[in-house]
Amino acid sequence: MNIDLTGKTALVTGSTSGIGLAAAEGLARAGADVVLNGRDEQRTANAVKNLTEKTGSTKVRGIAADVGTAEGAAKLIEALPDVDVLVNNAGIFEAVPVFDIPDEEWQRYFDVNVLSGIRLARHYTPRMVGRGWGRVIFVSSESAVQTPTEMVHYGMTKTAQLAVSRGMAQEVAGTGVTVNSVLPGPTLTPGVQDFIAGLYDEDVPFEEAERRFMAEGRPTSLLKRLIRPVEIANLITYVASEFSSATTGGALRVDGGVATAIIP
Ligand SMILES: NC(=O)c1ccc[n+]([C@@H]2O[C@H](COP(=O)([O-])OP(=O)(O)OC[C@H]3O[C@@H](n4cnc5c(N)ncnc54)[C@H](OP(=O)(O)O)[C@@H]3O)[C@@H](O)[C@H]2O)c1
Repeated sequence: MNIDLTGKTALVTGSTSGIGLAAAEGLARAGADVVLNGRDEQRTANAVKNLTEKTGSTKVRGIAADVGTAEGAAKLIEALPDVDVLVNNAGIFEAVPVFDIPDEEWQRYFDVNVLSGIRLARHYTPRMVGRGWGRVIFVSSESAVQTPTEMVHYGMTKTAQLAVSRGMAQEVAGTGVTVNSVLPGPTLTPGVQDFIAGLYDEDVPFEEAERRFMAEGRPTSLLKRLIRPVEIANLITYVASEFSSATTGGALRVDGGVATAIIP
């Protein structure tokens, strides 16, 4: 299967690091014109430079904008009126006991993790329909189907993304545009690496910390290790491609089997 996205423009939100950056790399290697995004001008410019050097692609650019705000979404849309592939990846997470989460935090999680993707999809998807082809991908989480007790607000947003993407897929039925959610499991991004390293003594090598974290903290994982960002990116790149044409309205797991239900 040779995935060729030459001539397609792909926007990946939240792509200065982690899963978003890996997805952008996968799309760039498949030939797409890739637009990176983060909140900070300098971090976004650095990511563009690094990805350009790494892939040899001359078609990587960046737009710094906070997609958690209406102003940020408008800035992004003004700079980039059309895309063929939209990856709504930007997301935040933090452990907070559920009864300690104030109104503003519930709202902020909804704005950054859910409304960001809604705003962009609301603009870009009808235009994809007009051209008869497009891919909208919401990066959700296994937390969508197994609410994490330590971050219920995060779980709420990840479940909401499934409903939004399913509903949008229904709206564009039969148009050549597909809308799906991808559900990663625990993945070795820089933030997760720091989090796990912080759980154990300094002299514990990271490989041992990873093994212990998976055994103690994620015992249902069938993979028994953290997923690498490229492994998530591989599914995103496939879903973005021509080859996924019969997959829409779906919630697609790439979670190492950590969610115990057979279907999400
Ligand atoms: N890592 C995991 O184990 C895991 C598991 C399941 C699902 N996920 C999901 O995967 C997605 C990416 O997670 P990750 O672990 O790769 O995160 P990460 O390493 O923390 O990266 C988050 C990215 O989002 C950007 N970002 C954050 N808020 C933004 C905003 N308001 N506007 C624009 N960009 C913003 C950050 O860029 P700047 O800091 O430069 O702004 C960064 O590039 C999230 O939706 C997350 O829920 C992650």
